[in-house]
Amino acid sequence: MAVERTLSIIKPDATRRNLTGKINARFEDGGLRIVAQKRIRLSREQAERFYAVHAERAFFKDLVEFMISGPVVVQVLEGENAIARNREIMGATNPANAAAGTIRKDFAESIEANSVHGSDAPETAAEEIRFFFSGLELVG
Ligand code: TYD
Repeated sequence: MAVERTLSIIKPDATRRNLTGKINARFEDGGLRIVAQKRIRLSREQAERFYAVHAERAFFKDLVEFMISGPVVVQVLEGENAIARNREIMGATNPANAAAGTIRKDFAESIEANSVHGSDAPETAAEEIRFFFSGLELVG
């Protein structure tokens, strides 16, 4: 198995409810290491660019409004198979379909306000990490 890095976002519904520490414990207990992390507020332009792949979807406008509705914590998680591992820890997009013990099952409010984002493939992970972090911010 390969050591990978993935981009994670703790979304505004979770920062609003002060869940950052509880969510980070899920990552650490699940075998992932938080190697970079910062709390920021996305601009509308950044949120639109980050979710550009969904620009034509009916939920896009509401998703952008949600992502700029409060601060987010962007982070880089590292570990064996980190991309797939993080998606297991997060659970399904819709919390109604998420497995027991996952972040989305336990914390998400809805399919939109679903507490966390995680990259879905090596190419998107590299691109999304570059979107938020400079090389200088990434500790080995
Ligand atoms: P997607 O990339 O399909 O899911 P995931 O975050 O699990 O990789 O969708 C991106 C985000 O868009 C998702 O986390 C929440 C939002 N979304 C909606 O608001 N409504 C929807 O019907 C879908 C599919 C996604």
